[in-house]
Amino acid sequence: MSFKLVEADLSDPVVLNVANLFVLWGQDEGTIPADRCPIDENEEAIFACVDAPVENGIVGGAIFYQPEGHDMLFLDILYVSPVDRRKGIGGALVRRICAIAAERGLAKVEFGTLVTNQRMQALGHALGFADYALMMNCRLDTKGAS
Ligand SMILES: CC(C)(COP(=O)(O)OP(=O)(O)OC[C@H]1O[C@@H](n2cnc3c(N)ncnc32)[C@H](O)[C@@H]1OP(=O)(O)O)[C@@H](O)C(=O)NCCC(=O)NCCS
Repeated sequence: MSFKLVEADLSDPVVLNVANLFVLWGQDEGTIPADRCPIDENEEAIFACVDAPVENGIVGGAIFYQPEGHDMLFLDILYVSPVDRRKGIGGALVRRICAIAAERGLAKVEFGTLVTNQRMQALGHALGFADYALMMNCRLDTKGAS
């Protein structure tokens, strides 16, 4: 399968809408937290587009930003359409983010994922990412801290 990675401008409402569809679809399949806020135009995006059969058809994307005061890019969202998975698209997107970070002289790329998201963890490990933190939360609407 032939695909290309293109920079996408999130200040374009159509592009921003596609980025937020990635979030919605990920939420629908339980791989992106249901309570996360929508993406806004202050982030950056790379989309993966197939050359055929649909010319320039978008099959996935990576949304990222540089957290203020941090020497890194943070990969906020990574999404590949289900029929196009395991074809190297997600890995290519993450490699591109790493290349952009290196071009900018940044020290690292980081992402967080749900503990249930085995695919994303496998992808990270395959690309040389290491586990180094565990996030915990307490739902105050159901249990509360005691
Ligand atoms: C996670 C996701 C982006 C991976 O995209 P992808 O295009 O399928 O990834 P790739 O084909 O580049 O896979 C790269 C490597 O990751 C690992 N990997 C990816 N999917 C895997 C799976 N289902 N099982 C085991 N390993 C997997 C493999 O090591 C794979 O290399 P290989 O195919 O040579 O074995 C995709 O499954 C997805 O969009 N999931 C839903 C959204 C999501 O979970 N986003 C991340 C939220 S933080």
